[in-house]
Amino acid sequence: MTVNLDSENLGFAYRKLPYRYISHYKDGKWDAGALTEEATLHLSEASPALHYGQQGFEGLKAYRTKSGALQLFRPRMNAERLQRTALRLMMAEVPTDKFVDAVKQVVKANEGYVPPFGTGGTLYLRPLLIGVGDVIGVHAAPEYIFTVFAMPVGNYFKGGLTPTNFVVSYDYDRAAPHGTGAAKVGGNYAASLIPGELAHSRNFSDVIYLDPTTHTKIEEVGSANFFGITKDNEFVTPLSPSILPSITKYSLLWLAEHRLGMKALEGDVKISELERFAEAGACGTAAVISPIAGIQTKDEYHVFYSETEVGPVTKRLYDELTGIQFGDIEAPDGWIEKVE
Ligand code: PLP
Ligand code: COI
Repeated sequence: MTVNLDSENLGFAYRKLPYRYISHYKDGKWDAGALTEEATLHLSEASPALHYGQQGFEGLKAYRTKSGALQLFRPRMNAERLQRTALRLMMAEVPTDKFVDAVKQVVKANEGYVPPFGTGGTLYLRPLLIGVGDVIGVHAAPEYIFTVFAMPVGNYFKGGLTPTNFVVSYDYDRAAPHGTGAAKVGGNYAASLIPGELAHSRNFSDVIYLDPTTHTKIEEVGSANFFGITKDNEFVTPLSPSILPSITKYSLLWLAEHRLGMKALEGDVKISELERFAEAGACGTAAVISPIAGIQTKDEYHVFYSETEVGPVTKRLYDELTGIQFGDIEAPDGWIEKVE
């Protein structure tokens, strides 16, 4: 099946594809799960996902290689993160093999919607786990729905590899010190809507959140992790219990050290010490690597490498990461899963 995708101009928007996967958890066990053409969920009005936010989600991509093959990037890490999210919110866990199998079924069923190699487009997959059933007290749901749907996407931030600006949020946090910041739950994103809108209305790509205890250290971007390249060529990314443990970030830590020969570490990134960095970026599945031109803090607009051009180390990291994801560069063991 060939579909006209306008792959060069894809943004990050929902598109209803022919097939998605759905599985139900009831009486303590998951059913086999199946592909369906039904894109509307049916659930009890009393479902804890709706009232008390008992839900979590994931994001990963399928890539088309030069030879036309399809592959996934570290999908087992997404499965494991969804399991940690499930534990935090007392939801039923989706076993890793079931998660990966569901994702592969959705990619195969919608194969014509995976953008061609060379366009930069990918098939974005959105696994979703929600607590459902008839509950009105604040309790965990008796039943769960696990679904995976997909859509072709291009850049998340409009600039792509062109740097864009970010603004620090002082009035709003996305997560509490011992809250759910490290879990991929909708509540964190609901909390980020107002600061996100304020940022967009001032032409910033997204918000930089500070640590919720002291408001002195960078935590992450609303939709991605933060990294900086210091003036002595170290890859540094914040360490905090309330940021989302990004699979892209862990991959970049490894690549910076083992492929680029850099020192790579997680540590404190003080908002008062931005001059440490020669380059900075946002990283994530949707964001890939999005270079940061400048950050607006309370007192200054701090520019890193350039307002118009990606820095050389950020570019090398981008080439290495995307080279692996699209199958052009040899991947470390276990990073790539073929969809056959
Ligand atoms: N931080 C937040 C808040 C995110 O929504 C995402 C996206 O998943 C990330 C970081 C990046 O995580 P990953 O690299 O696993 O996609
Ligand atoms: C992802 O990168 O997969 C995300 O979930 C970010 C999301 C806010 C679009």
